[in-house]
Amino acid sequence: MNILFMGPPGAGKGTQAERIVDTFKVPHISTGDAFRLAMKQGTPLGVKAKEFVDQGLLVPDEITNGIVRDRLAQEDCNGGFLLDGFPRTLQQAEALDGMLAEMGRSIDHVVNLKVDRGLLLARLTGRRICKSCGSTYHVMFNPPKQEGVCDKCGGELYQRSDDTEAKVGTRLDEYISKTAPLLEYYSSKGVLCEVDGEKEIDEVTTDIVSCLRGTA
Ligand code: AP5
Ligand code: ZN
Repeated sequence: MNILFMGPPGAGKGTQAERIVDTFKVPHISTGDAFRLAMKQGTPLGVKAKEFVDQGLLVPDEITNGIVRDRLAQEDCNGGFLLDGFPRTLQQAEALDGMLAEMGRSIDHVVNLKVDRGLLLARLTGRRICKSCGSTYHVMFNPPKQEGVCDKCGGELYQRSDDTEAKVGTRLDEYISKTAPLLEYYSSKGVLCEVDGEKEIDEVTTDIVSCLRGTA
């Protein structure tokens, strides 16, 4: 199954993706994770991406599209994939359609997680991530059993550099002006599924599974 996850920063895309890839046995492709890894490793891609990510701005389309094109060509995507955080502009959506058409494939479901702007700020500033395995927690909404330590692997938890109040504001503005218009694009293709992302994490997972199985 070929799945896209959409929604504003902090809507729960990463949290739900971790669960859905286990259920549907498809690889999780997050452009945000790819940029953060490249930034950590200090590769040329990472140095370029950092200029934008650190300001809460979108990375230019030609850079982002190249990453996705290379990733989708890998063998583990043959049985499907979950793209999280891509596409984020109309140009990226059209590029993705072109890549998939070349492969004789298309998107099966676009899941849009809907969360009110006021709640997103609380979610993002309280988010903590495992340095070792990348699992996501929240200091209030989804705390680890032991403060600062990952439940799954014992790794140390950290806060993302773009999760400050000022940068979250810029990220939300980028979402509204450049990404939100894509919902109409996918709605007109008949593949969009709207999910209430403000419910409890488990309930959101149940609603996404229903959507992907066509029982929503
Ligand atoms: P990216 O990493 O994709 O960030 P994002 O879209 O801003 O999304 P987040 O990862 O912040 O949020 P999420 O929806 O995954 O929420 P999460 O599950 O963690 O992108 C980062 C940057 O990279 C961009 O700003 C841009 O610069 C660049 N970039 C990436 N893709 C790009 C592209 N295609 N084009 C150009 N540039 C690109 O949840 C948030 C918190 O809430 C967590 O603490 C979680 O525990 C908690 N939570 C989740 N669900 C619930 C719930 N139901 N109830 C209570 N708490 C919850
Ligand atoms: Zn971990």
